[in-house]
Amino acid sequence: MKTIAVLSCAILALSGQPRAVNAQEYVAGMFSDFGMGIQQVHLAQGKDYSTMVVSWLTAYEAPTIIRYGTKLRKLDMTATSTDVVQYTAFNTTSGYIHHVPLRDLKPSTTYYYLIGETTNQDGSASIRYFTTLPKVGKRIKNFQLAVAADIGQTNDSLLTIDHLLQDPDPAMLLLAGDTSYADCDPQRWDTFFNFMQPFAEQRPMMTLAGNHEIEFDNTTGVATGFQAYINRYRMPEVRPTEINCPFEFTDFCAPSVYFSCYDYGNAYYSFDAATVHVIMLSSYTYINESTPQYNWLVKDLASVNRRKTPWVVVMTHSPMYNSNQAHQNEAQSIAMKAAIEPLLMQYKVNIVIAGHVHAYERTYPVYQNVVDYKDGITYIVAGDAANREGHASEYISPIPSWSAVRNGTQYGHGKMTFHNDRRMTWAWYRNLDGEKILRDEIKICNTAKGLPVSCGKINAKRTKLSKFNPGRALAPDLHSTEPVEATTATKAVKA
Ligand SMILES: *[C@@H]1O[C@H](CO)[C@@H](O)[C@H](O)[C@H]1NC(C)=O
Ligand SMILES: *[C@@H]1O[C@H](CO)[C@@H](O)[C@H](O)[C@H]1NC(C)=O
Ligand SMILES: *[C@@H]1O[C@H](CO)[C@@H](O)[C@H](O)[C@H]1NC(C)=O
Ligand SMILES: *[C@@H]1O[C@H](CO)[C@@H](O)[C@H](O)[C@H]1NC(C)=O
Ligand SMILES: *[C@@H]1O[C@H](CO)[C@@H](O)[C@H](O)[C@H]1NC(C)=O
Ligand SMILES: [Fe+2]
Repeated sequence: MKTIAVLSCAILALSGQPRAVNAQEYVAGMFSDFGMGIQQVHLAQGKDYSTMVVSWLTAYEAPTIIRYGTKLRKLDMTATSTDVVQYTAFNTTSGYIHHVPLRDLKPSTTYYYLIGETTNQDGSASIRYFTTLPKVGKRIKNFQLAVAADIGQTNDSLLTIDHLLQDPDPAMLLLAGDTSYADCDPQRWDTFFNFMQPFAEQRPMMTLAGNHEIEFDNTTGVATGFQAYINRYRMPEVRPTEINCPFEFTDFCAPSVYFSCYDYGNAYYSFDAATVHVIMLSSYTYINESTPQYNWLVKDLASVNRRKTPWVVVMTHSPMYNSNQAHQNEAQSIAMKAAIEPLLMQYKVNIVIAGHVHAYERTYPVYQNVVDYKDGITYIVAGDAANREGHASEYISPIPSWSAVRNGTQYGHGKMTFHNDRRMTWAWYRNLDGEKILRDEIKICNTAKGLPVSCGKINAKRTKLSKFNPGRALAPDLHSTEPVEATTATKAVKA
């Protein structure tokens, strides 16, 4: 019988003809969620909508191939890759991590994809989907990007992810570091990516390096760092990873204060999403005026075309403005603030988002500690996605004049809505209330368009729904109870 079954909100199991399963597949199958042992599926966009990298892990050697297409039953394109990595850290060798870029994709288009060469052992095939982002510069009313940091993998993190998943509007998740909280336990990276899969197989997860990504391997005597981060993620790199000076070993798995020469690769990069240019920086890579990171940042900022991407978002792990007692005045924050705050101002960056402190804080528009409602920049700490270390609830007093809102006892996530070229909204939702209740919201106007930052009130009645809903793409199919013929997909699999 050929039927379609819904396994989860983004996976369709199409049954086709059962086929012989070889021994290797059989073994893989025993360890797998889905037939071929495919697990930990996650997406990352390239520099723009036209590339999407699909990453996954198999415990055993398995084909690195994707069949995909714009019609559920016509997966007529194939992509392969030689980017299959294994790495060894803490006496443990990882599974095979496959990274396959799908290139020359069309904007705002839903693609269905099938990982691996074969159907599952029972003859079914797990088909997933994603929707590419709009063309760079395309004006989409109320275009949205979700934000989280320090997410971890607790029951509270699960609530954060559920809220992200229930909201079909955000085009992607911007994750400001401290992702898995593996903390030198390699298995926890595997559980983390499985944990993120329901969201990350459907919408890109763009991340940066937090201190919990450092993970010095103290089992080999050779100082290495960021091994999981380097091997498991594929961000849109400027150049391949460079380690430009030896790592300095520390006994601590996730040192908060640490500078390295981890350059390019997943360390720092930028990309475009419709009308937004997003810059991801590394708080754990040197950023003084003679460093590659600084020089790249200057070049990147100077090259932004504000007619095409009127909005510029910068993300780091360690916050430049923080009035929590946790990580107060840490070396990373001081160094980055000293090096780049004038640059961010000069290039009229609209918002700067960090994590690290397990709390929520928003500043008034500010420059060099002075509130400036005309030209200042709004800084956010959103390290409250709910990892196992809990809350950072103690704040310094008196409240600095630039601190607008702070809360160290709630978990949640943030969302940016870009209404048009002139206005955006920053919003923070706490987990307690479900998706619909805003706990902090502020309108930010675009200084690059000649407006003062603070130029308008939130109009609560105005619709905030995005005209671009990647999480809604398959709704009709997913909710259909009608059996669906699944011939072409099966053919594509056998081809
Ligand atoms: C790693 O392996 C070495 C040698 O087999 C052993 O001495 C060490 O205790 C192991 N370390 C860990 C963290 O398992
Ligand atoms: C998470 O929730 C599950 C199911 O409710 C429960 O069994 C488990 O103990 C919880 N874990 C933690 C760490 O609270
Ligand atoms: C290595 O680091 C881990 C995690 O931080 C720690 O538990 C362990 O004691 C360290 N082992 C050695 C040999 O330093
Ligand atoms: C500046 O960066 C270089 C690495 O490029 C590093 O060696 C040096 O110590 C840094 N200086 C400061 C003041 O951090
Ligand atoms: C954080 O929010 C909770 C719930 O609204 C409130 O009880 C608490 O006082 C807030 N904390 C701060 C520092 O405002
Ligand atoms: Fe951190």
